[in-house]
Amino acid sequence: MLKVLCTIFLSFPVGILCQAWHNKACLENHLGYVERLAQETIYKLEKDVKFCNLKVDDFNQTINNQMYSWHVSGSVQYTDNFLISIQNVHFDKVSSMVTRRLANEVPEYQAGVLFTLVFNHAKIGFNALVKLDNQPEQRYTVDYLYDSISFPISITRLLNTNETTYTSSRAGSVARLEMMNFLPSTNVSQVVRRNFESSSISSSFTKWASQTILPIMQELEDIITFPKIRLDGCK
Ligand SMILES: *[C@@H]1O[C@H](CO)[C@@H](O)[C@H](O)[C@H]1NC(C)=O
Ligand SMILES: *[C@@H]1O[C@H](CO)[C@@H](O)[C@H](O)[C@H]1NC(C)=O
Ligand SMILES: *[C@@H]1O[C@H](CO)[C@@H](O)[C@H](O)[C@H]1NC(C)=O
Repeated sequence: MLKVLCTIFLSFPVGILCQAWHNKACLENHLGYVERLAQETIYKLEKDVKFCNLKVDDFNQTINNQMYSWHVSGSVQYTDNFLISIQNVHFDKVSSMVTRRLANEVPEYQAGVLFTLVFNHAKIGFNALVKLDNQPEQRYTVDYLYDSISFPISITRLLNTNETTYTSSRAGSVARLEMMNFLPSTNVSQVVRRNFESSSISSSFTKWASQTILPIMQELEDIITFPKIRLDGCK
């Protein structure tokens, strides 16, 4: 069992956006808000949910490879896939904005905080059942290391009602390794491990954000309060 570490690194903010309403409308210490929210969310994720409960959907691959003079065809079923470990979590691309719009001629103010939560060195585990033509089935345990998996998150609040909305967009991933790591390593797994496309499972990562991370943030709403609006440019 790999040790799961969760350290939050404070990353640089990328600009503060203040629009309309008042040129100097801004959110007070939105960076501190993101830092606390990210930290508490990861803490609750580890304690109440556990990282290993972040699952990746089952998927199948069709194999049709030529390796030297050896032709390999068949299929692979990947099941019970989940996050095994992450080295650390950080956040970046933090920005905030305050906007105004007219709803039935009544001004409505909305404030938003945007940031990206990043899991660094995230390892996913898989069970693989390899069924090659004219061969007995073979079972393998597999892992794959992502350099990072990132979750773009946006939190907006309507100021007259305090209604707060948590949304996430498509998760991104970065992976340098081209191949999965199969155990045991056999001549068959040497061929099969080349068929993985690292972006192919990212819809599961997107679900981690919408189904697990955002609900935790929402639960924390009363504890970690949305930043106050200020009109002095927050200098
Ligand atoms: C993978 O293939 C198996 C066997 O054909 C099938 O039972 C299973 O539903 C498939 N899984 C997915 C995710 O398509
Ligand atoms: C919205 O939140 C602010 C600050 O927490 C509070 O002072 C205000 O009463 C709230 N407004 C409503 C409509 O709940
Ligand atoms: C793959 O390995 C198996 C078992 O070691 C062996 O019987 C088979 O001939 C090998 N196939 C090729 C194409 O090397």
